Amino acid sequence: MTLPPTPEELAQGKAYPAPGITVYYDARRCVHVANCVRGLPDVFDTAQRPWIQPGQAPAGRVAAVVRTCPTGALHYRLDDGPAEAPADPTTVLPIPDGPLTVTGNLSIQTPAGEVRDVRVTLCRCGHSANKPFCDGTHARVGWRSAD
Ligand code: SF4
Ligand code: FES
Repeated sequence: MTLPPTPEELAQGKAYPAPGITVYYDARRCVHVANCVRGLPDVFDTAQRPWIQPGQAPAGRVAAVVRTCPTGALHYRLDDGPAEAPADPTTVLPIPDGPLTVTGNLSIQTPAGEVRDVRVTLCRCGHSANKPFCDGTHARVGWRSAD
């Protein structure tokens, strides 16, 4: 049985530390669906620098909003709390005219090696510059799925 990813394995991208929680952001995997901005506009605000300020809300609330990021661009590590638990069963959901959204206890093989994660969006248009992850190019090139 594969163990779930550790907090260290989930810590991907640039770190934004605050008391109680550190948020990690990998810009290459953000497709700007803006769940974060809608969920906690005081924490995720593209008009402020840095644009992620986890100290503006309780750590548990920040973690809950990070978990709504479908692409895995956002992760978190709680100072005194568990790592994000993988969904069970693993689920694959095709987004019309977009990527595959996958949640679960994931081992993704990338050109840079294995990535352990619990949320990813995988390119199915073929145009991503960050394969196997979606990087939002499908929208820019106007790709259309059959479903
Ligand atoms: S929810 Fe995730 S993919 Fe969407 S804008 Fe925020 S960081 Fe980017
Ligand atoms: S599906 Fe998003 S870049 Fe290919």
